[in-house]
Amino acid sequence: MNDPIITVDEVTKRFPGGTKALDGLTLHISRGSIYGLLGPNGAGKTTLIRILATLLRPDSGTVRVAGHDAVRNPAQVRECIGLAGQFAAVDDHLTGRENIAMIGRLYGLTRREATRRATEIVDRIGLTDAAERQVKTYSGGMRRRIDLAASLIGRPQVLFLDEPTTGVDPASRQDLWTLVRDLAAEGTTVLLTTQYLDEADHLADRIAVIDHGCLLTVGTATELKDRTGGAIVELDLPAEQQPMALRTLEPLQANRDPDRDRIVLPAPDGPLTLRHALRLLDHADITPTNVALHRPTLTDVFLALTRNETRDLTGRVA
Ligand SMILES: Nc1ncnc2c1ncn2[C@@H]1O[C@H](COP(=O)(O)OP(=O)(O)OP(=O)(O)O)[C@@H](O)[C@H]1O
Ligand SMILES: [Mg+2]
Repeated sequence: MNDPIITVDEVTKRFPGGTKALDGLTLHISRGSIYGLLGPNGAGKTTLIRILATLLRPDSGTVRVAGHDAVRNPAQVRECIGLAGQFAAVDDHLTGRENIAMIGRLYGLTRREATRRATEIVDRIGLTDAAERQVKTYSGGMRRRIDLAASLIGRPQVLFLDEPTTGVDPASRQDLWTLVRDLAAEGTTVLLTTQYLDEADHLADRIAVIDHGCLLTVGTATELKDRTGGAIVELDLPAEQQPMALRTLEPLQANRDPDRDRIVLPAPDGPLTLRHALRLLDHADITPTNVALHRPTLTDVFLALTRNETRDLTGRVA
């Protein structure tokens, strides 16, 4: 990989009480890219971001951001980064614009420059109308957007966004995606965590999936989907017919997807597998109400990796 701006090498972090939040994690992130970090709750995503942002020290391993060692030179790292944490850190009694300007002052901008930049960013993030109101009157999604706006004021080379769109409405999410893309096009490197797999799919140039502090896999969204392999058949059936259908389709490794209340099975032979499944069901006198054959989505990849604990590429460098 050419010119990584973030390198995480063999990083381990254990919390008091014994939780190993990071377990020898290695990731390399290219300059100017949008990098998605996925993993179930407790996987270690926020811990990694806090280490990269110099808020937490690793027990072992090395972390470099924009050419600086995060443990030995945290002050230099802080000059290059912006952070919007998982829980919006905003002052309720200030207005939106004042909150952003305050962070600008912490970055060493003059009062006038901080105010000018805050106004510019408020426009960019689409909160001009609300910017003069105290943040305590904001909705949850608006607070997140102000927090994200504040992370931009220092014109960071590297931006860490920990679940930037959690609780943000769909239209505002689209706006934030556009903003993140624009920032990356201007040369900012963005590391974001998300629980929305479509977000990673749309935004991220590369995606790493971690669990229990270990890397499970890394690649582009397409590479991850290809690695999960083949296609997937989905069948909708009335609830009372599902147990019988599952027994009938057992030879094809059918499973019930509880989230979507349907039966899914791998289709290594594509339409041939689908035809086979429908024949078996027909013999059992079962007719699905809907049938679909599709390529794996990022959700399928995520579930396959994190449910079955498949460690297909552990240790591979991003
Ligand atoms: N300050 C702390 N003290 C003790 N344990 C902690 C602390 N912070 C995190 N942990 C533990 O470390 C593990 C990783 O937590 P982390 O917050 O990094 O997960 P995450 O991937 O960000 O999860 P989520 O998706 O829920 O935000 C969890 O088991 C968590 O309980
Ligand atoms: Mg987290």
